Amino acid sequence: MTNSNSSVISHLIPGSLSELQIKYTQTESFKVPHSELIKSRVITGNDKSVSTAEYKMLRTRISRLMKVNGWSTLAVTSPGQSEGKTLTSINLAISMSMEVDQSVLLVDLDLKKPSIAKKFNCYPSAGISDYFLSDVPLSDILFNPGIERFIILPGNERIVNSSEILSSLKMIQLVEEMKMRYARRRIIFDLPPVLITDDALAFSPYVDAILLVVEDGKTKKNELTKAVDLLKSSNILGIVVNKAKAQNQEIYY
Ligand SMILES: Nc1ncnc2c1ncn2[C@@H]1O[C@H](COP(=O)(O)OP(=O)(O)O)[C@@H](O)[C@H]1O
Ligand SMILES: [Mg+2]
Repeated sequence: MTNSNSSVISHLIPGSLSELQIKYTQTESFKVPHSELIKSRVITGNDKSVSTAEYKMLRTRISRLMKVNGWSTLAVTSPGQSEGKTLTSINLAISMSMEVDQSVLLVDLDLKKPSIAKKFNCYPSAGISDYFLSDVPLSDILFNPGIERFIILPGNERIVNSSEILSSLKMIQLVEEMKMRYARRRIIFDLPPVLITDDALAFSPYVDAILLVVEDGKTKKNELTKAVDLLKSSNILGIVVNKAKAQNQEIYY
């Protein structure tokens, strides 16, 4: 994608219903400079780069599957670390928000290593864990990075008991509430790796589908097999071969 030799693919609870409604209309908004997005390999939505075209292709294929199945929530994970979960989640979410009838909420659930906000050069004082641990209102956490129909629920500090939070009643109710309130919203969750902690597994029952990211030349076959096996009771929507070398450029469904 944005470097010379790799390609993307080819490749609620506390707070009432009304609270959540207010949050989405009072979300803090600030324009992140394009130069910062480019530095983080985040697509800007309006450019004509190869990577934007590839993410749009991925978006269209995933959108179709989600529509056909009536799904609105998608979690992105991978067998191991640094295989491209966060970047894929962000660029997929931005591509989906470009569909005019669609808004997207991107949630950072890699609670041990939150990194979505950083990719927008943003260092929030409160993150999703503060909503869970200190009852900080969502309105103080959500932000819009200057892209239409796109909202981020970021993380900030790493927390230890993350899998307990991910499978807590408060978390389940938050997901259900976010799903029910808006018919034309997709929610994308950036999860930790499946094989490193039990977080992804603990959260997987609460999403409609899962997208697995593997890194071409790095993810081992047995790691992928193990990850798929661990997630077998979930709807694995597809596997994105990230940072693909030219000859392996394909998305597998
Ligand atoms: N398709 C890609 N092409 C080039 N670099 C990529 C690609 N996907 C991810 N990266 C880079 O790899 C690193 C890890 O990506 P990230 O999305 O943070 O991984 P993870 O969330 O799985 O830990 C980052 O520096 C990111 O910019
Ligand atoms: Mg990540």
